[in-house]
This record gives sequence, C-alpha cells and structure tokens, in this order.
Amino acid sequence: MDSLIAPPATPEGAVTKIEFRNIQKVYRVKKENGGGYDDFVVLKDFNLDVYAGEFLTLVGPSGCGKSTLLDLLAGLIPLSGGEIRIDGRIIDGPAMDRGFVMQAYALFPWLNVQANVEFGLTIKKVPKKERRAISGHFLELVGLTAFANRYPHELSGGMKQRVAIARALAFDPEVLLMDEPFAALDAQTRETLQDELLDLWEKTGKTVVFVTHSIDEAVYLADRIAVLASNPGRLIELVNIKLSRPRQGSRGSAEFGWIRHKIWRYLQNDEGGQEPIPELGVPNVAEVIDSRAAL
Ligand SMILES: Nc1ncnc2c1ncn2[C@@H]1O[C@H](COP(=O)(O)OP(=O)(O)OP(=O)(O)O)[C@@H](O)[C@H]1O
Ligand SMILES: [Mg+2]
Repeated sequence: MDSLIAPPATPEGAVTKIEFRNIQKVYRVKKENGGGYDDFVVLKDFNLDVYAGEFLTLVGPSGCGKSTLLDLLAGLIPLSGGEIRIDGRIIDGPAMDRGFVMQAYALFPWLNVQANVEFGLTIKKVPKKERRAISGHFLELVGLTAFANRYPHELSGGMKQRVAIARALAFDPEVLLMDEPFAALDAQTRETLQDELLDLWEKTGKTVVFVTHSIDEAVYLADRIAVLASNPGRLIELVNIKLSRPRQGSRGSAEFGWIRHKIWRYLQNDEGGQEPIPELGVPNVAEVIDSRAAL
C-alpha cells in the first residue's frame, strides 16, 4: 500500500505550536548492588512538532517515557538535553498556557470539588460569579453537579479523575496535556467524555497532547498518532489519521479496524514499520510518516 507511505510534510496551513528538539532525559538511579549511581536514559533524541489546534495522541509500551514527555512539556521536570518551545518560546517551567490532567489525578485534598475546578480561575482572578458559572458548566459536563461540595477523599477514583478533567477544561489553556485521563473510567463514561472532549476541542481550537494505552482511543481521537518505543524512549512512527469527523459510530468500520491493526502492529514490532502490514482493501485513511525522516 505504497500510497500510504508518504514523505513527512507540514499539512497545508499548519502552524507549529510545540517543538520538541533533540530531547534527552536521563535519571540518576542507584546501582542495584553496591553503591554508586547509573545514568538511566529515558528519552533519547526525541524530535516532534505538534501543530496548533492539533489533537495528537501518544502511544507506546509502559515505561517508554510518555508521562516523562508530558511532565517535561508541562515544565514540571528539567530536561537533560535539547529544548521544548511553545509558540517559539523555550519553556522553563509550568505556565498558564498549559493545563494538564496527570496520570495520578492530583486534586487539592483541602478544597471541595467546586473549588478544585475553580482553582485556576481563582489564580487568574476571574470574578466569583463567572467562576461559579464556569465550574457549574464543567461539573455538569463530567456528571458531577451533585458532588460540588464533596471533598476528594469522599470520591471514587473515576470521580476524582473527572474532577481533574473539569479543572483542566475550566482553566481554558491553549495547550491541554492529558496523561491517560480516561483510563480509570467505565467504558460508557469514557466514550461520553471522549466525545465531549472532541466537541470542546473542535469549538475552542486547543492543541491537545493526549497519552493513552488504548489504541482504540488513540485512533478515535487523533489527527496524528505518535508511536513510541522504549529503552531508550523514542519516536518510531507518526501516523496521520484521515478518518473524517465527527467519528461517532466509526469504531465498527473497516477503516477504523485497519488503522487499529496498523498501530497494534507497530507496538508489537518495536522498530516500527519493518514488518509489512497486510493490505486490507480499504481506502487510504492513514498515512504513515517515517519519524526518522520527519525532522
Ligand atoms: N524520578 C525518576 N527516577 C528514575 N526513573 C524514573 C523516574 N521517573 C520515571 N522513571 C523511569 O523512566 C521510565 C519512563 O517512565 P514514564 O512514567 O515516563 O513511562 P510511561 O511511558 O508513562 O509508562 P506508563 O505507560 O506505565 O505510564 C520508566 O522506566 C521509569 O521507571
Ligand atoms: Mg505514564
């Protein structure tokens, strides 16, 4: 299926929002026997451009460095090498232009649900009446209106995650970083929130970087999927998802199944793209970009 193997190209009209350039991340870890430390290379020579308004999903085996990448982009941990730019500016710490929903939902235990959702708005000095309206809207969106006065310890894991999502959305950042935000949710809530997120993304033009273990979720949401391999963590493939939107009802289609299979094969074969992927006789819906040639 040669037509699917296309040289990398910036899509027409696309503007680069986030640049990862030669990213290196090394942790010092204690040697297993005896004293001293070893350098553990988590990410090596990671290069990627994320376009403004794009929905990019990251998939890869556990431990390959997905959360590390998001933490670096959020500015929560320092780089060991390379640089990350947003709108051309090097990032050097957390800032209001990025909102995140982390893998382990971090709510403020001393604040109730409503105050957690309003946290960023309070910092931005949004007036109380407006704050209430915004938190009310997003709590309704995640189905937690009745729990506004509860505290985090009174919530289930999935509910806490939904509060974290509402908080990130209420904050209205240009760039939304999401680390497996729906992993702890039941299938139905998960699909509802996927659609709500897509709806919001389409309306607001946010740039979203979204980590997931679910290939199905990655395909359903993404404009492009970045496939990572581990040891050291690196990009092995970038896949353009050309399924038309809206995608409700698309999961059962042959095109969807074909892309899902393709991504699954990349994840199985660590080096990416070396094993031929069988032709399934469906239209050109995914375009594989060789990441090694991408930059
Ligand atoms: N503070 C740290 N010190 C040492 N090693 C770390 C630290 N944080 C993460 N690591 C290691 O870096 C690697 C990447 O971790 P990371 O959490 O980014 O993986 P991940 O791709 O998000 O995995 P998962 O899919 O399981 O969430 C792992 O091997 C992990 O053990
Ligand atoms: Mg992770």
